This record gives sequence, C-alpha cells and structure tokens, in this order.
Amino acid sequence: MRLAVVGATGEVGRMMLRKLEEESVNAEVLDLYASSRSAGSCLEFQGSKIRVQDLNEDHIKRGYDYALFSAGASISKHYAPIAVSSGTVVIDNSSAFRSFQEIPLVVPQINGHLLENYRGIVANPNCSTIQMVLSLYRIHRRFGLKTIVVSTYQAVSGAGNKGINELTDQEHGSKEYKVFVRQIHRNVVPIIGDILDDGFSTEEMKMVNETRKILDDDSISIWPTTVRVPVMFGHSESVFCETVKPFTIEEIRREIVASDDVHLTEEKITPIEVAGSDTVFVSRLRSFDSHRFTIWNIADNVRVGAATNAVRILKRHAGGAK
Ligand SMILES: NC(=O)c1ccc[n+]([C@@H]2O[C@H](COP(=O)([O-])OP(=O)(O)OC[C@H]3O[C@@H](n4cnc5c(N)ncnc54)[C@H](OP(=O)(O)O)[C@@H]3O)[C@@H](O)[C@H]2O)c1
Repeated sequence: MRLAVVGATGEVGRMMLRKLEEESVNAEVLDLYASSRSAGSCLEFQGSKIRVQDLNEDHIKRGYDYALFSAGASISKHYAPIAVSSGTVVIDNSSAFRSFQEIPLVVPQINGHLLENYRGIVANPNCSTIQMVLSLYRIHRRFGLKTIVVSTYQAVSGAGNKGINELTDQEHGSKEYKVFVRQIHRNVVPIIGDILDDGFSTEEMKMVNETRKILDDDSISIWPTTVRVPVMFGHSESVFCETVKPFTIEEIRREIVASDDVHLTEEKITPIEVAGSDTVFVSRLRSFDSHRFTIWNIADNVRVGAATNAVRILKRHAGGAK
C-alpha cells in the first residue's frame, strides 16, 4: 500500500504513525509531510527513520492509495482535492469537509458501510463527537434520542502541540496565553472555538451537526457546552439524554455494553487512566425515570477522537468496507 501522512509531526500525525504500526498496516511507500518548519527532521516507523518532506502540490500528486491528512482545515481544503485528482483516497481529520453533504463523515463502528465502493475524501469527525456517538449509537437505534445535553471537559492536546506547550509553559510560570482565550493552568475555560451570532461556539456546533449526520437523524435536539480543562490527554463529557421510547436502566446498560469499543465500568475513571487506550469508558450511568439518563463519558482524544478512527477508516476501506 502507498501511503502519505500530511501533518505527520503533529499530535494526531505522530499518533497515526503509531496506530499504523500497531495495526501492522503494510506500507510499501510511506511519505511524511509537514510544513517547511519541520521538513528534513526524521520520524520513526517500524524501526526505520523516515525523513519529513515539505508539502507541495507535486508531492501530493504522487498517486498514493491513501493520504491521512491532519494539518488543519486550510491545508486540507487546498491539497485534499489535488490528492483525490490523482486517485488517492483522502482521510481528513480537519473540519474542512465534514459538513459537505456528499462527503461521508465516518465512525466505522456506526456507519462504516458508507465506505463501500466510495472514492474521494472521507471526513473524520471531531474528537468530542466521536467518543459521544460511540457510547450512544445503539441507544439511539433502539430507543431514539430526542435530546442530548452535553458538557465537555477537553484536554489541551485537543489543540495540538501548541496547546500542550501553552499549558506546560504556564506550569513553569508563564502568564502568556495565545492558544486558549484565558490562562489554562489552574483554570477552566468555557469557550472552545469562535463564538457565533447565536452564542454557541464553532466547537459546539460541530457536536450538533456531526452527531446528527453520523446518526443520520436531524431531529435530535443537542445542547453542548465545550470547555477546556488543564488536562494533557483525554476528553471527559457529562452527557444527559432523553429518549423517544421508554427504557429500563438495565436495557440502557446492555446497549452500552454491546457497543463496539465502549466499556461500561463502575470504577471511578479519569483521563489519566484512559490516556493511551482505544476504548471509550462510560461510568456513572444513572436515571430518575424511564426516558432520561445521564453518563460520564471519557476517551483519549488523540487516539479515539482522531488517529484510531482515521486508521480504522483506512483499514475498513482497504478491506472492501463490508
Ligand atoms: N489533537 C486532537 O485531539 C485532534 C482531534 C481531532 C482532530 N484534530 C484535527 O487534526 C488536525 C491536526 O491537529 P493536531 O492536534 O495534530 O495539530 P498540531 O499538533 O498543531 O500539528 C499540526 C501539523 O500540521 C502541520 N502543518 C502546519 N502547517 C502546515 C503547512 N503549511 N503545510 C504542511 N503541514 C503543515 C504541522 O507541521 P510542522 O511540524 O511543520 O508545524 C504539524 O505536523 C487539525 O485539523 C485538528 O483540528 C485534532
């Protein structure tokens, strides 16, 4: 298989290389791209060092089977169509194409069938959305979801290398902030992305629009508040759901347990325990009645929320998307 990773030096890019190794993806060609800042540096893959190249139009036209993009939306908008025009299937981690009706937005465990006989750009959803829909898709199929109220507690790694660096610098005394809208060290910042006219943020609207698209149900009423917390890896979410049909709590428990790559636990689970895992952990399932329940939902954002999902899309597509 001929592969390219665009944004290979970033948080998601480096994790994608690890996932490709872990999944023993057979790459006859693996070209790594980043900006001119890190071109010439080397990254390791399966015991060999690979030199990072400067991304340009000629390079991305090399006719790869798959190109995994994680260099931000503007890079994807420009280079992904060029890659596709040379026959490459692009798996894009950015928000550039997620809302396009003709572009599949895929979480393979839920709607992997969309990859069958598909060629072009495949969009990887937002990290907070992936972990939430993985815990809810079976409940949605059986009981219907009327309303979701979600508050996120998102790790700084969700903002890439620069998010991690900003928290680390502040831990060492810096008072500067550029990535987050306030100091993040010893603080909580209740705004991620830009605030829109109606008061919701761009990050919150990703959760609304992407959840509806993946679950293929525009009727779900979704109320997110996205919050940055001083955690390195692992997004947490408090999720309240109202269903269309009545349930017993035991039925909800069974649907979560039966969900692919989701683990329901009675343990007190925190981001430190989930970092490095490909599983979504659900705990604190509780309810007062037969239509509403609440959970604590937590996963490694760089793995579950980005790299693992992208490599699963690749494997599913390469395997014929059955
Ligand atoms: N972090 C997460 O949890 C997460 C989750 C889901 C989706 N995403 C999305 O994935 C993408 C990458 O996120 P990240 O967290 O990995 O960010 P990051 O750590 O900041 O990495 C960005 C990558 O893009 C490269 N890049 C920047 N400008 C470039 C250019 N002009 N040409 C080529 N490459 C360029 C960087 O290369 P240099 O080393 O040369 O700067 C680096 O490899 C974003 O679209 C983000 O929204 C991230």
